[in-house]
Amino acid sequence: MEEKYELIRKLKEEKNAVILAHYYVAPEIQKIADYIGDSFYLSKLAVSLDNPVIVFCGVEFMGESAKLLNPDKTVLLPEPTADCPMAHMVTKKVVDDAKAKYDDLAVVCYINSTAEIKSWSDVCVTSANAAKIVAALPNKNILFIPDRNLAHFVASKVPDKHFIYNEGYCPRHEFMSAQEILDEKTKHPEAKILVHPECNPDIIKIADYIGSTSGIINYAKEHPEYKEFIIGTVYGVIYKLEEERPDAAFYFPATMPICINMNKITLDHVINVLKTGENSVFLPPEEIAKAANATLTKMLELAK
Ligand code: 13P
Ligand code: SF4
Repeated sequence: MEEKYELIRKLKEEKNAVILAHYYVAPEIQKIADYIGDSFYLSKLAVSLDNPVIVFCGVEFMGESAKLLNPDKTVLLPEPTADCPMAHMVTKKVVDDAKAKYDDLAVVCYINSTAEIKSWSDVCVTSANAAKIVAALPNKNILFIPDRNLAHFVASKVPDKHFIYNEGYCPRHEFMSAQEILDEKTKHPEAKILVHPECNPDIIKIADYIGSTSGIINYAKEHPEYKEFIIGTVYGVIYKLEEERPDAAFYFPATMPICINMNKITLDHVINVLKTGENSVFLPPEEIAKAANATLTKMLELAK
């Protein structure tokens, strides 16, 4: 392992590359990353860093968003088949139908979406900034795509808006079992339940805190008075949770929530893209890239 870390450090320096990693990737990847974070933090970083090469250890839409925001930089995806299924779960018809029905409509897309879906939208959001951005929009009617669960969570935070929902979901969070979380609560009655808003409504109902991956990590960090936590999101967050709270215990539902796509990324993949420059993200056709970039830029502005 140490040899691989050393090689990555050397290649990174040679290419003036920076490694960004999402909290869900394997611990050994988070260990070699220059920056680790949630989708919002990583997209902000992608525009503020000077390195001409970004190695994005995450799923496809993350690398694609970084490229849309930085057309002149090289963005390398260590494993290009690492895709987020939810990122495809909406059709143009859903958007066209809502536009035909409501005059005063804003199409809000979760960053977990393809560039094409972003190009149909007015603004992009992440779970860390969705409620703030939706509240700032002048429109009364909000079509929120693709994630139904995040849409319901945001609607609960911005009750004066009218939401139109779409049937997309993250399989990992949608099929997580509320009963398995309650089983952990029975074993650890003092534990606080911290979950991601992509979770199904049965889990949202029993949570003590609902927030993005960084929200969950910050909650544990900012509450030293609690020593036990039940975590309703992908297991990868354990790396940072244990680093921030070595004194605390973290429990997950018995069916371990693993994102198979995030898990595909290995140190060998990172070494390969740094060595060869393979798997460079290409921009979609100009019109799509322009419109998709506008939704991401608007997100960065409104989230300030
Ligand atoms: P965050 O934006 O909270 O990091 O979530 C990304 C994601 O894919 C959740 O499943
Ligand atoms: Fe997509 Fe779900 Fe994996 Fe997040 S956890 S990247 S939403 S499949």
